[in-house]
Amino acid sequence: MNGAPTVLIMAAGEGTRMRSSLPKVLHHVCGRPMVAWPVIAAREAGAERVLVITSPDRDLSPGLPDGTETVIQPVADGTGGAVRAALDAIGDAGGGDIVVLSGDHPLLGAELISSLLEHHRSSGAAATVMTVDLDDPGAYGRIVRDADGNVVEIVETKDPSAVPQEQLAIREINTGTYAFKAAPLVDALARTAANSSTREYYIGDVLPLFRDQGLGVAALKVDDPNANLGVNNRADLAAVAAEARRLIAERHMLDGVTITDPAATWIDADVEIEADATIEPGTILRGATRVAAGATIGPDTTLVDTSVGAGSAVVRSHCVEAEVGGRCQVGPFSYLRPQTKLADDVKIGASVEIKNSSIGAGTKVPHLSYIGDADVGAGTNLGAGTITANYDGHAKHRTKIGQGAKTAIHTSLVAPVSVGDDAYTGAGAVVRDDVPPGALAISDAKQRNIKGYADKRAKESEPSPASGERENDDEGNE
Ligand code: UD1
Ligand code: CA
Repeated sequence: MNGAPTVLIMAAGEGTRMRSSLPKVLHHVCGRPMVAWPVIAAREAGAERVLVITSPDRDLSPGLPDGTETVIQPVADGTGGAVRAALDAIGDAGGGDIVVLSGDHPLLGAELISSLLEHHRSSGAAATVMTVDLDDPGAYGRIVRDADGNVVEIVETKDPSAVPQEQLAIREINTGTYAFKAAPLVDALARTAANSSTREYYIGDVLPLFRDQGLGVAALKVDDPNANLGVNNRADLAAVAAEARRLIAERHMLDGVTITDPAATWIDADVEIEADATIEPGTILRGATRVAAGATIGPDTTLVDTSVGAGSAVVRSHCVEAEVGGRCQVGPFSYLRPQTKLADDVKIGASVEIKNSSIGAGTKVPHLSYIGDADVGAGTNLGAGTITANYDGHAKHRTKIGQGAKTAIHTSLVAPVSVGDDAYTGAGAVVRDDVPPGALAISDAKQRNIKGYADKRAKESEPSPASGERENDDEGNE
């Protein structure tokens, strides 16, 4: 009786109110598909098996965590039909309890699932429904109780004209979350009838059947508003995401992360941040991003699937699938693209873009550079405007720069090419051939000075008598 529950997640509905070509439960909430939220919560609550009930024409697998089972509900004939479709797959659930969750309630967390189960088990009821009181109960299912307070039925209100006024006035609503004893559920689902106007089977309709059999029906009323944050349309989605963001920020702050302005900080659900990191306003941390202790991110920085080592600072920058070592400085205005690997103590400065490159420890790329497909050694300095020409119009080629090298400003490195350890380049060098270790590469054409140029230019641009007040309109075209 106290075994791990089997959890069913209903996710086979049409989701028409989203007006979306993407299945509703694949929309993301803080970087995680909606349907993955209840799966993860169910596992945290100790579920043995988690089965997601899906429709035959919508593939939810891109949104499901590894190891999630699915069962298909052949036609979308309602929440009762959904649970019935799963019965073959779960059998008698090993004599344990069956918890039914809605795939569109992403913030209903493990604690709520555990308290539902606890209540269900201690009351000995055959069914327990989780409810909340709402000031505006909207179109939710109403919990109808008898004079003694026992749950009688759940009345659907999507068509309010079909519902008596005194039931519409009920403020206690069904959150779409239930615990059942397996055997009576199987029996009752076989006997429920479809709603005469919608032709759908409602899971709540098993409750009166339980009562008729003298089986206990309980309700657990919770005051956590997140229990009822369902997503039916995109306005709901935004509201749920806002609450999810608030909760995620709060969790990190309680774990020792400084978030200067939580309302101006967006952190995805699966981001990891160590204690004593600081997240400044305007920062967006997405996907599988990790931030180590003592690092400062932001202001105004986006990290996607990026890891930042201890004590580093990333300021006003955009990083995607990059690895930043410890004690690095990145930004302001740096762009680290996929497969960028910075070792420790690296400095990447303003208007620098790096892609598919490794940058050695202590190396500096301080200003206005593009480094693509390069391997740069430790202790090297790439002067302002150093650019790798990594693409010859057909293929990408690598640039190799050794340790302790120094490129002067405006060096172009035409790949494939290598610059040896401790080598130098001259200002404006166009490096097409390998530079041996310790050498200086110079490629400039000799400078010529044209004497008297300014006077000559001024004469040429004097207004001719024919054109009157003609201005210098040829400026910039020389
Ligand atoms: C449902 C409840 C309502 C409750 C509300 C809480 C029913 C009939 N109504 O209404 O009492 O107050 O949730 O949010 O249960 N689904 C299927 N197969 C189907 C139909 C639905 O798997 O054939 C899934 C949906 O994907 C969704 C969940 O069941 O995840 C609930 O369905 P939805 O249509 O959103 O029900 P609500 O109108 O929100
Ligand atoms: Ca819903």
